[in-house]
Amino acid sequence: MSATLIKGTVIRDQIIEEIKADVEKIKAEHGVVPGLVTILVGEDPASISYVTAKIKTAKDLGFKEVQDSQPATISEDELLALVDKYNRDDSINGILVQLPLPKGIDDKKVLNAIDPDKDVDGFHPVNVGRLMIGGDEVKFPPCTPAGIQEMIVRAGVETSGAEVVVVGRSNIVGKPIANMMLQKGAKANATVTVVHTRTKDLAFHCKRADILIVAAGVPGLVKPEWIKPGACVIDVGVNRVGEKISEKTGKKVAILKGDVDFEEAKEIAGFITPVPGGVGPMTITMLMRNTLNSLKFKLGIA
Ligand code: GUN
Repeated sequence: MSATLIKGTVIRDQIIEEIKADVEKIKAEHGVVPGLVTILVGEDPASISYVTAKIKTAKDLGFKEVQDSQPATISEDELLALVDKYNRDDSINGILVQLPLPKGIDDKKVLNAIDPDKDVDGFHPVNVGRLMIGGDEVKFPPCTPAGIQEMIVRAGVETSGAEVVVVGRSNIVGKPIANMMLQKGAKANATVTVVHTRTKDLAFHCKRADILIVAAGVPGLVKPEWIKPGACVIDVGVNRVGEKISEKTGKKVAILKGDVDFEEAKEIAGFITPVPGGVGPMTITMLMRNTLNSLKFKLGIA
């Protein structure tokens, strides 16, 4: 039996349409649109490509989009002053400082300077705390975990009472998704186990998972025999394992591989995300939804 594919591209398109409809309604009723600033420091090629994609999505949605590119030589104080400028700008609902920042700038200091009510990445300690409390406290769930949760729920996978096993304990994916899935309420109510590099028997835990979320950054870490038949497998890994010439463009592109061996795993799992085209496309979409929600919170209509 072959698993049902959970395609991030399809779910992304659904959510983008929902956001578009909301933006038009708010514009008609309140005369405002969500405002997002993306601050890019330096010229890291991967960061430029992420930021370009974020800007394009925001513009397509009818957001006010401010692209603020700064040289790698900017000082920490200057960057903090820039963040403060956008904190005080009423037309801006979301501030995104693209990571990584150049050496010599303390990224923690910069992220902590963002107004928690404009922190659409959900990285500020206030938003991490809100996420931990759960329920109505949550304003900006971090984008990748929020995307994962939407994929599970929209695929029709039951989360209530499910055994969720999260492989990886990063601040950006592992810890927040584990916290989100164990909350009381819709889209959650799961029994959650987090496993990591020091876990004694990875296979034992993975085999128990009704929902297996893998965010380890190790290509092919999860073996097909560790997957419970019929389980939902979410592969967050995007590992560059080589290069090839694209048939479409004739240009060199990276060969990407997930943390799960997709070809074998799809014969055992009930649901599975592909790499690429799985979790990846969801992250920017959730950033847009957080920015829209930031405006809704401000207007008192969330
Ligand atoms: N760099 C890579 N991914 C991200 C992200 O989700 N947010 C920010 N701010 N920087 C990143």
